[in-house]
Parts: sequence; C-alpha cells; structure tokens
Amino acid sequence: MLLTPQGEIRLIGHRGAAALAPENTLASFRKAAELGLRWVEMDVSLLADGACVIFHDEVLDRCTNGHGQIRQATSAELATLDAGSWFSPQFADERIPTLSAALIEIQRLGLGLNLEIKHDADDVLPLVVSVLETVRQQWRDPHSLLLSSFNHQALRLCQQLAPEYRRGQLYETIPADWMAQLQQIDAYSLHCDWQSLTFEVAHAIKQAGYRLLCYTVNDPLCVARHWSWGMDAVFTDDPRVFLPRGQAPDL
Ligand code: G3P
Ligand code: MG
Repeated sequence: MLLTPQGEIRLIGHRGAAALAPENTLASFRKAAELGLRWVEMDVSLLADGACVIFHDEVLDRCTNGHGQIRQATSAELATLDAGSWFSPQFADERIPTLSAALIEIQRLGLGLNLEIKHDADDVLPLVVSVLETVRQQWRDPHSLLLSSFNHQALRLCQQLAPEYRRGQLYETIPADWMAQLQQIDAYSLHCDWQSLTFEVAHAIKQAGYRLLCYTVNDPLCVARHWSWGMDAVFTDDPRVFLPRGQAPDL
C-alpha cells in the first residue's frame, strides 16, 4: 500500500469512477461514493439549446449510441441516448446527466465536486454563464466545490461572475508563466498531468501557496515521488488501486 509522507492518500474520482462505470454518469458518481471516495471530478459541456450536460468528448460517438458534435445537439435529443451500454450492458439505462441532475445527485451522495468546464473558445461566455446559473441554483456549500478549466478565459469569467467558488487552472504542460496566470484568476489550485510535473516546478507551486493536483493516476507507483514533492491529491479512474486505506482530500 502506497502512503504519502503524511500517511494518507488523497483521491478524487475521475469522471466519477471511470474504470468501473460509464464515465460522467450518475452510476459513476454512485460507484465512487460506494468505494469510499469523498470527491469526484466531472466535465461540463454546452448544448445547442444553451443547456449544460456532463460529458467529456466533443462528439457523442465514443460514450453513447448517438453521433456527431455534442455542441450541435439539444437536450431533447440527448435525453433519448444510451450512455452506458458502450461500457457494459448492465449500464444500458444510463443517460447523459444534465448539470442540474448531477449536482443534485452528488450532494445527495455527500461528495465534494471538482467541476471541469470544457473549453470551446467560441462558447466560453455562454458556457460559463449557464454553468454558474445552474450551480447557484443547485449547489449549497461553496466550500465543497472547486471549478477548473484548461481555458484561462473561462476561469477569469468565473472569478468575475462568481468569486465565491474556488478556481483551479488546468494544464497539460505547465507553462513558464504559470504563476502570473494563477495570480490573474486568484487561483486556489493548479491541476496538471502527473507526467509533466518536475520536482522544481512542484516545489515552486507549493512555495507560492497553491494546492497541486495531478491527473490521471491509475498506478500509485507513477506518483510515488510526487507526494514528497508536495502533490496534494490525484485524480484516478480506479480508486481500488489506492483503497482500502485511501482518504479523500480535504480541499
Ligand atoms: O480535471 C482533470 C482531468 O479530467 C483533465 O483532463 O481530459 O480527463 O478532462 P480530461
Ligand atoms: Mg476532466
């Protein structure tokens, strides 16, 4: 069993528990809770009718029995799609959750949430406005919510429109000016691919006072050194590889 220097493991269920149930579905969030996780991550995307749903890809094909761009689809069209059979026949009844339904279910499960705002540049303003409107209607405790995005502009809008929710900047590769970017959005955290992190950058991020989260870790040995560098939490598709002694992050 891998332990951090503090003797605890901090886990966030990636897209719920994506290795064990169809990603970004209510079944996936329930599976994460069942396994003892206390936080989950999910992706929110905008539809043609202005509604928000929980979905990762730009196209429907991989994770549903539908086809084409999700941005061109309407709520009514998506409501008929099967979002579970691609994973396993036992999940044939799963649907793409609306943002509202997912927020309600995640709170019912007692989970904290990292809500990742997907990042089509043309849609940043309507997407962020729609997300924040729904979050304000449905989410009760700002302390158990962390917004994140690869899109810096989306996070700037979040800061301007809803400063009460904490913000995490996502990177695939951490740029040289990461500190300036985090300062611009008064960030709480930096989220990066564990493979792109070095000791020097991790040390600087922690010295600057930010939380440091790494995705997507499905083998504890991959981040064995990262804990000692100050990494605070990992996103995982498969919490079983860290459990049973895993503890959720106190974000
Ligand atoms: O938020 C962490 C991780 O989900 C970012 O990448 O592509 O899996 O949404 P992606
Ligand atoms: Mg994500």
